[in-house]
Amino acid sequence: MAVQLLLAGDAGFREALAEALGSGYALLEAGGVAEAADLMLAIRPDIVFVDLRGGSATGMAIVGRIRGAASMKLLPIVACADPTPAATVAALDAGAEHVIGFPPPAGELRARIRSLLRTRAATDRLEDATQVIFALANAVEAKDAYTEGHTERVGALAVEAARLAGLDDETQEALRQGGVLHDIGKIGIPNEIINKAGRLSDKERIVMNKHPLIGERICEPLKSLRHLLPIIRWHHERLDGTGYPDGLKGSQFPVPAQILQLSDIYDAITTDRPYHRARTRMSAIEFLHGEADKGWRDHELIKLVALAAENLNLGRIRDEDIPPPPAPFGQWRTE
Ligand SMILES: [Fe+2]
Ligand SMILES: [Fe+2]
Repeated sequence: MAVQLLLAGDAGFREALAEALGSGYALLEAGGVAEAADLMLAIRPDIVFVDLRGGSATGMAIVGRIRGAASMKLLPIVACADPTPAATVAALDAGAEHVIGFPPPAGELRARIRSLLRTRAATDRLEDATQVIFALANAVEAKDAYTEGHTERVGALAVEAARLAGLDDETQEALRQGGVLHDIGKIGIPNEIINKAGRLSDKERIVMNKHPLIGERICEPLKSLRHLLPIIRWHHERLDGTGYPDGLKGSQFPVPAQILQLSDIYDAITTDRPYHRARTRMSAIEFLHGEADKGWRDHELIKLVALAAENLNLGRIRDEDIPPPPAPFGQWRTE
């Protein structure tokens, strides 16, 4: 289908643009705000060209309508404005992606259209991936009534710990998404096992321990999630090689996955669950250091997680704020 362009402005403006654009585009034309808004909603053009010369109130109103509507927020706008720095600034601040002179040179006009279409192709893909992320993560949280808010807290705690560790923005973003997605494989685990209020049998444990691999398999086809796969797959490894699914040892266990894991355990043991009574912040950090003494975790990273939990005010401080243990009293489960 031909690229659809909406030209919004008076007849002279539309004519000059149509001439510069030449053939190869499907052109829609609107003279006023209402007409432009109707066309945008009904036909969803790929790009809108607006006449902002002389600070046109009509043009400004059209830009305002586009930027104000959730369904049109991502619709790219190219504005024709007077060739002064002030007019350019006003057009960009109003919400235009590109500002060009008038009449626009044909070559430049076509190049700007190509540029906007490239950007849009990329954001379309991102939007799809984000929708999948949230839909699946919500489905997992819905399976487990006791872990409400878990994934969001784990992500936030991991990002803060990573920031304190001096890790780059990209890794922090991976951890934020990893927080949301790390347990997505639980979607393949029966509810009786996820919500069991006691010790898991050996058989049940084997099933439960499959969730990192199931999660990895779910996310694998999405290109935009590929950098998260190590975090999802390895969030239950241990530094001494006794974790699952791969039994990674020492430096084989990547630091981002370690941070996600510590944040995950911290949140699991500081929140109320059917199989244990929650710990205070201090007790949770002691618990993690105890696991580091066994060779499973890293003391230095635990200190960062403790600081991050303090910065974000996650976990309760006073023992008396924590409800009594549920019955039957089970094992500490940290998946
Ligand atoms: Fe978790
Ligand atoms: Fe897990």
